[in-house]
Amino acid sequence: MTAGINIIAVANQKGGVGKTTTTVTLAGLLAQQGYHTLMVDLDPHGSLTSYFNFDPETIKDSVYNLYQQAVNKTPLVVDKIIQATRFERLSLFPASTALATLEKQLGGRSGMGLVLAQALKQLDKTYQYVLIDCPPMLGMLMINALAACDQLVIPVQTEFLAIKGLQRMLRTLKMIEHSLHTPVSYHVLPTLYDQRTRASKECLQTLREDYKTHISSVVIPVDTKFRDASYAGKPLSMMAANTHGVLAYSQFLEEIGTGDIKHSDNATVQQQVNKQINNSADYQQAM
Ligand SMILES: Nc1ncnc2c1ncn2[C@@H]1O[C@H](COP(=O)(O)OP(=O)(O)OP(=O)(O)O)[C@@H](O)[C@H]1O
Ligand SMILES: [Mg+2]
Repeated sequence: MTAGINIIAVANQKGGVGKTTTTVTLAGLLAQQGYHTLMVDLDPHGSLTSYFNFDPETIKDSVYNLYQQAVNKTPLVVDKIIQATRFERLSLFPASTALATLEKQLGGRSGMGLVLAQALKQLDKTYQYVLIDCPPMLGMLMINALAACDQLVIPVQTEFLAIKGLQRMLRTLKMIEHSLHTPVSYHVLPTLYDQRTRASKECLQTLREDYKTHISSVVIPVDTKFRDASYAGKPLSMMAANTHGVLAYSQFLEEIGTGDIKHSDNATVQQQVNKQINNSADYQQAM
């Protein structure tokens, strides 16, 4: 781990599993706990960048600059690219759609996998946490995230196709660990869990049986408030701190030893989450 900074990558090659939601929610919680937190958008679609009302089509400075600087062998200039958000202690390293051209331009070039790790080293006195939102594809950008991170979170939607996606992601991880010569510590986080569907329940059970050592005991439930939060451009914890989705993410932070470790009774928190899931309007509507 880089001294003073804890870098968490959020990745899965499968799309729509909750990577951006996980990045925003964890970052929001950490910023509220008093930590200087940076979110990095590595997805050429720029969903995280758009979430905070920056336009990835027109933004002038973005993660893309780093790779240009690396190619030109000029020093990496990081701080000019970082944008403050309207939330205290929460900053953004934005993406631009130009990132989509990087794979073609630089894919084969050596040394490009470590650019982000080198850039983040400059920030170890400024930030305590960095959350990296990855694109849903294997490529140079994902390799950069895995090479830079201290911990990897793999959100997995609790449905069967997603388990296939997880297997693919873990094969990718093995490959990258092999070329980095270092293991990456990872957590599989079940997301979009709908306890009223058999598919969700069975999928969760399969995940727990097959990935015993890496599966989180915390499950992120379906919570429609996440959509409201993205519409409002706010981390959900800053809008509605006590919804079951936020409670689950904050319990996940505790579980992975990140942020404020409250040493709360996990069983009690899980019960609280379950109770909220049962009472939730989402599930009432689904019935
Ligand atoms: N726990 C949840 N409950 C309800 N909706 C959710 C939840 N998590 C994510 N969503 C919604 O699901 C959609 C996909 O989520 P998100 O964008 O976080 O996934 P992603 O993995 O980043 O997708 P992509 O691979 O396209 O980048 C979004 O509309 C988001 O608001
Ligand atoms: Mg995303």
